[in-house]
Amino acid sequence: MASINELKSAGVIPVIELDRVEGAAPLARALLAGGLKVAELTLRTQAALPALGAMREVAPELVVGMGSIRSADDVKRSLDAGAAFLVSPGASAALLGAMKNSGVLALPGVATASEAMTAAEAGFAALKFFPAESAGGVPFLKALAGPLPEILFCPTGGVGAEKAQEYLALSNVFCVGGSWVATREMIRNGEWRAIEANARCAAALASRSEY
Ligand code: 3PG
Repeated sequence: MASINELKSAGVIPVIELDRVEGAAPLARALLAGGLKVAELTLRTQAALPALGAMREVAPELVVGMGSIRSADDVKRSLDAGAAFLVSPGASAALLGAMKNSGVLALPGVATASEAMTAAEAGFAALKFFPAESAGGVPFLKALAGPLPEILFCPTGGVGAEKAQEYLALSNVFCVGGSWVATREMIRNGEWRAIEANARCAAALASRSEY
């Protein structure tokens, strides 16, 4: 099971859409070789669940969670596959309950102050801010840090390397997520060296933000 601190020290969480399970092993190796320690698969392809197992097998030191969780059934299937953490794009009351009962670190998705307060009241200390760039971006999170300083966010959605740095400098951001490190197309084309290079840049962003 992952912890908030593990995600915080990783800094950047690559969000991965895998079409073929065969891509799981070389992808995991490329991310690790680039220095990233945490990855989020998304439960929106057939390959996602078996890929999670394949990534854990080839790279046990990589912390792999499941994103795009929308229901209690998604929570169960992801836990059965060995997800170390869970991420959702939004959060209904039922989903908040299922994520809470899962026993693993879960980041429900929120996009407003009220949604953040509802999730915090339900016992979630860290949330996904989605879709980060279209929902207000850096200025929005800066504004929330005043009245809600204890709520931590992982902004995701439209975040690239440059924006990631800006987000990571905020007091209420503990990590950022995004597909730019390993896009669906790069994975499909087997561009493992380019993914490794992106992972290396992303890992460097995370270590810079600690100072
Ligand atoms: C997602 O769930 O698709 C993530 O938020 C990734 O967003 P991005 O592709 O804009 O980085």
